[in-house]
Amino acid sequence: MLRGTKVGLRARHADDIPVLQAELYDDVVTHSRANGWPWRPVAADSKESPLLVDDTKETLVPFSVVELAGGTLVGTAALWSIDNHHRAAHLGMGLMPSARGKGYGTDVVAVLCHYGFVVRGLHRLQIETLADNDAMLRAAERNGFVREGLLRSSAWVLGEFLDEVVLGQLAGEWRPAAA
Ligand SMILES: CC(C)(COP(=O)(O)OP(=O)(O)OC[C@H]1O[C@@H](n2cnc3c(N)ncnc32)[C@H](O)[C@@H]1OP(=O)(O)O)[C@@H](O)C(=O)NCCC(=O)NCCS
Repeated sequence: MLRGTKVGLRARHADDIPVLQAELYDDVVTHSRANGWPWRPVAADSKESPLLVDDTKETLVPFSVVELAGGTLVGTAALWSIDNHHRAAHLGMGLMPSARGKGYGTDVVAVLCHYGFVVRGLHRLQIETLADNDAMLRAAERNGFVREGLLRSSAWVLGEFLDEVVLGQLAGEWRPAAA
């Protein structure tokens, strides 16, 4: 398990899936705002569940996020679209409603940076988020990401086009937070 100061990132366990499905996937608004594809109903035990892990897929490394104190499951995190030629990847995460606003998201970004830069030797990490997702923007910027651009009306979200912000960080810029 990878450890931050508040949360740990570990492998997805089979019994995480129904919990994550109910708390995150089935929340249509959160799903639609946090993911780039339209929500559709998927049963927790479906082989189409996006929460299922395919260990053969080298471009995606999904984690379950747990509280370090007690090990309670609180969400998902991932390094996605990993490109070993350009040595780049994207960060994604989603915390259960009761786990938000406690500093966990900021800690998840820190742990994913450690995984991307230190464990995987990547050169560049990127985050895309809706321009009104203040918590995500702040969690990224607290970990050294800088805003690189605004994608105007790039995301169709529940009946309207919204802007997205692209944030990036290079390995040489990254300063791990003191534990
Ligand atoms: C986005 C998300 C991962 C952030 O994690 P979090 O644990 O809630 O955020 P943190 O508690 O670490 O807070 C980060 C910062 O944002 C601020 N913040 C938290 N919630 C906020 C809110 N609702 N509105 C404005 N600011 C907020 C915090 O005060 C903190 O700022 P600070 O560093 O100046 O104190 C989490 O809210 C989440 O899972 N949301 C739903 C899914 C999602 O949006 N995923 C990201 C898709 S790109």
